[in-house]
Amino acid sequence: MSIQGPRGTLPVILLKEGSTETKGREAQRNNIAAAKIIAEIVRSSLGPRGMDKMLVDSLGDVTITNDGATILKEIDVQHPAAKMLVEISKTTDNEVGDGTTSVVVLAGSLLEFAESLINQDVHPTVIVDGYRKAAKKAKQFLEESADKVSGNDKAILLKIAKTAMQTKLVKKNSGQLADLVIKAVTAVTEKDGTEYKVDEDDIKVEKKAGGSMNDSVLIQGIILDKEVVHGGMPKSIVDAKIALLNNALEISKTETDAKINISNPQQMKSFLDEENRMLKDMVDKVIGSGATVVFCQKGIDDMSQHYLAKAGVLAVRRIKESDLTKLSKATGARIVTNLDDLFEKDLGTAGLVEERKIEEDRWVFVEGCKHPKSVSLLLRGGSQRVVDEVERSVHDAIMVVRDVIQFPSIVAGGGAPETYAATKIRSWAKTLEGREQLAAEKFAEALESIPITLAENAGMDPIDTLATLRSRQIKGEKWTGIDVLKGRVSNMKSSDIIEPLAVKLQVISAAAEAACMIYELMM
Ligand SMILES: Nc1ncnc2c1ncn2[C@@H]1O[C@H](COP(=O)(O)OP(=O)(O)OP(=O)(O)O)[C@@H](O)[C@H]1O
Ligand SMILES: [Mg+2]
Repeated sequence: MSIQGPRGTLPVILLKEGSTETKGREAQRNNIAAAKIIAEIVRSSLGPRGMDKMLVDSLGDVTITNDGATILKEIDVQHPAAKMLVEISKTTDNEVGDGTTSVVVLAGSLLEFAESLINQDVHPTVIVDGYRKAAKKAKQFLEESADKVSGNDKAILLKIAKTAMQTKLVKKNSGQLADLVIKAVTAVTEKDGTEYKVDEDDIKVEKKAGGSMNDSVLIQGIILDKEVVHGGMPKSIVDAKIALLNNALEISKTETDAKINISNPQQMKSFLDEENRMLKDMVDKVIGSGATVVFCQKGIDDMSQHYLAKAGVLAVRRIKESDLTKLSKATGARIVTNLDDLFEKDLGTAGLVEERKIEEDRWVFVEGCKHPKSVSLLLRGGSQRVVDEVERSVHDAIMVVRDVIQFPSIVAGGGAPETYAATKIRSWAKTLEGREQLAAEKFAEALESIPITLAENAGMDPIDTLATLRSRQIKGEKWTGIDVLKGRVSNMKSSDIIEPLAVKLQVISAAAEAACMIYELMM
C-alpha cells in the first residue's frame, strides 16, 4: 500500500495490533539481544558435559534433546536476528548434520563482540569486512592444519561417529551404535570416479520404543512398518523372489461416470465373474514371473489377496514410493508399472522376508539381501523420548561419517581447531590496516567461545583453561584441546576425539555469514 504525499509516494507500513515499531540503535540493540538469548539457550548443551534440554510444547508433548537444531526448532522465535540463528542451525544440520549448537554459539559471540566494537565507534561496514576476511582466513588455516585420511579407513570413521555421539544421551552406547552406523554407511557408499558418494536417504531408520539401545540392529535390507495383507498368506519366505509393483492389483474405477445396468441376477453374476477373471489374470501374471513376495505401492483387491494367498505368495500393499525405491536398491528388483512387463529378470532377491512382532506392531523385514544398496537401522530405547534422541544422535553420526567419506579431512575436537585458528588469526590480523584489525581480533576471540563454553559446561575454570590451551597452541601443538571428560588440556587426537573438517568449515562459514548479514541489514 502507498499514499501520495507532498514529497511523492510514501510507503504505508501496517503493523499488527499490539505491535510497536522500533528503529535505529534501539532496534539494533533489541535484535542483537534476542539473538544473544538464542545463543545463551543452546550454550549450556555444548559438549559431552553439556546438559540435555527438556522441552514442552503447547500441546504438552515433551522432547528431551541435546541437539542444537532440535532445541531451536521447538522454540517459537519472532525476532529477525534470532530467526536467522535458528535458520543457520537448521542449514548446518542439512549440510553436515553436526555442529548445530556450535554454529549458534559462535554466531552469538560474533554478534556480541561486534556490538562492543560499535560501542567503540567502529563502523559496521568495517566490522563486516573484517569478519568476512577473518572467516576466510580461519577456514584456510584449518584446511592447512587438517589431516588427510582415507575415506574407507574404518578405524577413523568409528572415532568420528563416536565423537559425534559422545555429546549425547547415547554416549554409553556410542561404541555399539557407531559400529552399526559405519556398517550402514559403508554399505550404501558408491564410488563415483575417484570419489565416494553417500546418500543418507539410502539408510532407512526405524525406531521403536522398548527394549534397550543395545537391542538396536542393522538389517541388510529394508524394514517396512506394514503387515502382510492377508491372514492366509505365509508370514515368512526364505530365499524370496520379490516383485515390486507401482500400480494396484485392483480393477481401476473408470474415470468417466459409467453406469452399468444390471437387470437380473444372472447378469450380476457374470459381471462379478468377469471382474474375478480380470483379477485372477493379474495375479497369474505375478505368479507366472516366479515371484514369491509382492510389494505393491497401491491397493490389493480382496480377491487378488485370496488368489495370492492360495498360491503361497506373501504380499504387502500401500508401500510408500520412497520405500519402493529403497526396496529396489536393496533387493535389485525393478519397479514395474505394467504387469505385462513383469518377468523373472525383474525380480529381486532377499534371504528372508518375514513379518515380525515389534512390541505392539507387526512389521515386515526384508533382510539378508546380497549386496544391498539400501539398508535399515532398527533403533530401540527404553522410552519414546529416549528412542527419539537415539534417532537424532544416529542421524548426526551417519552424517559425520558421510562427511568424512565424501571429504576425507579431519581435525581434532575439544576446541583444538577453534583455538588453533584463533591463534593464527591473531598474528595474521597484524597485517591488516586500520580498524579491520580490531574486527579480525574479535573474530579470533569469538572462535575461542567454543573451548570456553566446553570448559564452563564441564565445570572447569574457563580462564585458566584457555590460558593453558593458548600457550600450548602457540608452541605449535595443534591438536591440543580440552578433554572435558578427563578435565584437562591435552592432545585430543590421541584421545580419539576427532571431527570432520567439513563440519568446522560449515560452522565458521554459516556463523560468520549470519553475523555479517544481521549487521548489514541494520546499517
Ligand atoms: N571428550 C570430549 N572432550 C572435549 N570436547 C569434546 C569431547 N567430545 C566432543 N567434544 C566437543 O564437543 C563439541 C560438540 O558438542 P555438541 O555435539 O554438543 O554440539 P554440536 O556438535 O555443535 O551440535 P549438535 O551436536 O547439537 O548438532 C565439539 O566441539 C567437540 O569437539
Ligand atoms: Mg555434535
